[in-house]
Amino acid sequence: MSKIAIVFWSGTGNTAQMAQAISEGASVAGAEATLINASRFKAEDMDSFDSFAFGCPAMGAEVLEESEFQPMFDSIESKLSGRRIALFGSYGWGDGEWMRQWEEQVRADGAILVADPVIAHEAPDENVLYECRSLGRTLI
Ligand SMILES: Cc1cc2nc3c(=O)[nH]c(=O)nc-3n(C[C@H](O)[C@H](O)[C@H](O)COP(=O)(O)O)c2cc1C
Repeated sequence: MSKIAIVFWSGTGNTAQMAQAISEGASVAGAEATLINASRFKAEDMDSFDSFAFGCPAMGAEVLEESEFQPMFDSIESKLSGRRIALFGSYGWGDGEWMRQWEEQVRADGAILVADPVIAHEAPDENVLYECRSLGRTLI
């Protein structure tokens, strides 16, 4: 059975809803999906999963959340090369710049993006939740 880690940070629950939908999509398709809070994910956990969905909202000024998510991500970045991953997250007043930069960064790290990133303006609507469930299936 394919093992998928869904590693995310969410302050007000929008990115968490997306994570839940990704998990549902992966589980329905027969994978073992694990939702993991960013602060609990460690570099050594990378070897326990076949693919990864990383989720973080736009914070600061178009950056990843800096106290928990960014340090975790810094610690795993050197292990991304050749890994099948997906990115997702929610944003507010910007235009998605944080996600464009993040996508560019993981491509430079050598990660294999299984699909385009999924982003939600504030709370995910039904269309975004559908995209998230599809993303979960694609990660298998
Ligand atoms: C401290 C802070 C910084 C933020 N910075 C940005 C930003 O740079 N660009 C943007 O589009 N939204 C920004 N937002 C809005 C959040 O990305 C948006 O509310 C998102 O839905 C939060 O997701 P969450 O519910 O998963 O925490 C910011 C929100 C907070 C609280």
